[in-house]
Amino acid sequence: MSNELQTPYFLIDEAALLKNLERIAKLKSLSGAKMVLALKCFSTWGVFDIMKPYLDGTTSSGPLEVRLGAETFGGETHGYSVGYSKQDIEAVNPYVNKLIFNSLSQLETLRGDVAEGISLGVRFNPGVSYARQDLANPARQFSRLGVGIEKLSKEVLEGVEGCMFHMNCENSDFPAYKALIETISADFGDYLDDLDWVSLGGGVAFTSDGYPLEELGALLKWFSDKHGVQVYLEPGEAVITQTTDLAVTVIDIVDNGMQTAIVDSATEAHRLDTLIYNEPGSIREASAKGEHEYVIGSCSCLAGDQFCVARFEKPLKPGDRLHVMDSGGYTMVKLNWFNGLKMPSIYCRRQSGDIVELNAFSYDDFKATLSRQSV
Ligand SMILES: Cc1ncc(COP(=O)(O)O)c(C=O)c1O
Repeated sequence: MSNELQTPYFLIDEAALLKNLERIAKLKSLSGAKMVLALKCFSTWGVFDIMKPYLDGTTSSGPLEVRLGAETFGGETHGYSVGYSKQDIEAVNPYVNKLIFNSLSQLETLRGDVAEGISLGVRFNPGVSYARQDLANPARQFSRLGVGIEKLSKEVLEGVEGCMFHMNCENSDFPAYKALIETISADFGDYLDDLDWVSLGGGVAFTSDGYPLEELGALLKWFSDKHGVQVYLEPGEAVITQTTDLAVTVIDIVDNGMQTAIVDSATEAHRLDTLIYNEPGSIREASAKGEHEYVIGSCSCLAGDQFCVARFEKPLKPGDRLHVMDSGGYTMVKLNWFNGLKMPSIYCRRQSGDIVELNAFSYDDFKATLSRQSV
């Protein structure tokens, strides 16, 4: 039973994961698009066996991710980084099928180092996007992400077989997405017609309840047919959304004008995007109409480090267990040891109800990240 597990821990729920994966399979069959998991969002490879039947492979950033994708997931392995060094190219050569450069200068200087048989792509920046925050907006002013249309020509793309656009962040608005795809098709169509494949990136909340999957499938199929390309999507959050809780325990209650429950975890260490994007977590045990309001405070030393403010039916007390919901994406990939806090263990609850431990961390793991030896 999960109640016997020591907090903090992440618990990935297989049944919830399969629900998302079934929707991905449906979109694939409606659209003919291929799907590669964005490892930057989620790379807990212990559950990849569950995902493999539903996805075509992985897309990675740094060379370590690329290797992990090839070794633990298999299928197609795409590599895209904002900046590759010559050494990075040598490191990824044995693993990637498709390599996407972020700039024309990277394409020009490194293409000669790319191993034969790897399909080359370039990231295009469409100049339009859907993102709620400027920090996560790939089309923000002076964006370094991708090549703008004004820099493109058929000559510079000689030998390039594909391209990638990533211009969405948590987009659940289908009409807005459709408008973006139509703009890209109109603006870049001349180039797209010459390519074999186009990746439309990630950032679309298409596995969420109520998302019009049929319409999305038809749109992707239209795009693919019109330009004669194999379409790819690079879902990260859409694969893992609503599958994972971060379980924590209340350690203390303090009241300095507001009741604050201090828990044995910290956003800065274990759920970093809560802090970066100022997006509070949601607590499973909370109740909007509850009489008792608490700040759910982290146990890091950062003054503003809190998970959320939430209301409860009953007063909280030390020893209570809380679950921060939807904690699968961009969490485990960003874990750090700030303050020497206990690192959350990682578990998977199988459909059978069995709980499998995927990882548990020790003092030795912490120590080894800091030095392997003294001077
Ligand atoms: C190039 C690229 N592809 C895919 C993704 C995955 O996006 P998401 O997890 O929002 O689906 C990202 C996220 O930043 C990205 O930068």
